[in-house]
Amino acid sequence: MTEDRIHIEPGKLPRHVAIIMDGNGRWARQRGQMRTFGHAAGAETAKKIVEEARRIGIRYLTLYTFSTENWNRPPEEVEAIMQLLSKKLDKEKDNLIENKIRLTVVGDLAGLSRELQRKFKDLFEQTGRNYEMTLALALNYGGRNEVVHAVNRILTEKVNFVTGCEITEKEFEKYLYSAHLPDVDLLIRTGGELRISNFLLWKAAYAELYFTPTFWPDFDEHCFHKALADYQKRERRYGKTGEQIENEKS
Ligand code: IPE
Ligand code: IPE
Ligand code: MG
Repeated sequence: MTEDRIHIEPGKLPRHVAIIMDGNGRWARQRGQMRTFGHAAGAETAKKIVEEARRIGIRYLTLYTFSTENWNRPPEEVEAIMQLLSKKLDKEKDNLIENKIRLTVVGDLAGLSRELQRKFKDLFEQTGRNYEMTLALALNYGGRNEVVHAVNRILTEKVNFVTGCEITEKEFEKYLYSAHLPDVDLLIRTGGELRISNFLLWKAAYAELYFTPTFWPDFDEHCFHKALADYQKRERRYGKTGEQIENEKS
């Protein structure tokens, strides 16, 4: 046990933590290495944080793995990320099953290679009944794309919709890639940028935001605990006044 161990209230954990894992490239460049070296290190961090989240009792963890905008990177880098992902899916399969972690994807799977799609299909089948934690990979994901995709699904499925009929927020949410996830409670971004980069626009509407300059490969359990402890100090008011929240507690 280290001296600066951070206390986390087990009863006040965020149900859904979402992470923008940023800074792999800069981390590698600082070391005079190729950006892909940073992605490999970042994948190790992802494994560590998944394990820690599972250990602590976080129920939903979403990791921003590849955005719709990331296709604009040099093809060699895109290819390296996809290969790394494919390798990690094989490597971590047994761990996911053993630790009762359900793996899901938010984003357009159809835009990935056949091989990756096949691997995911197999993993969904193998882990679908797991219940300890849901690990969602945001892959080929863009928040605007998610909303437009939902609208298009509604238009297709509800061709017979009577004109003038209105859709509720609850009904709309069912058409999102992230329909199986609750609202994001805590959104962490590593790497120092102060932006959302098209991540979970709908589900993170009321998320608590936590930014750290630490590059993702350097983000460890201690950094994660710090983010969780910070979250636990926040007062979530959802539009109400602080007094109202205090009264509700008593
Ligand atoms: C995040 O790290 C990983 C992906 C976007 C796939 P970056 O690769 O964006 O790292 P920086 O921001 O260039 O340092
Ligand atoms: C966001 O990181 C996407 C992922 C972490 C997968 P980026 O590095 O792509 O974000 P921007 O483009 O700098 O905002
Ligand atoms: Mg980046």
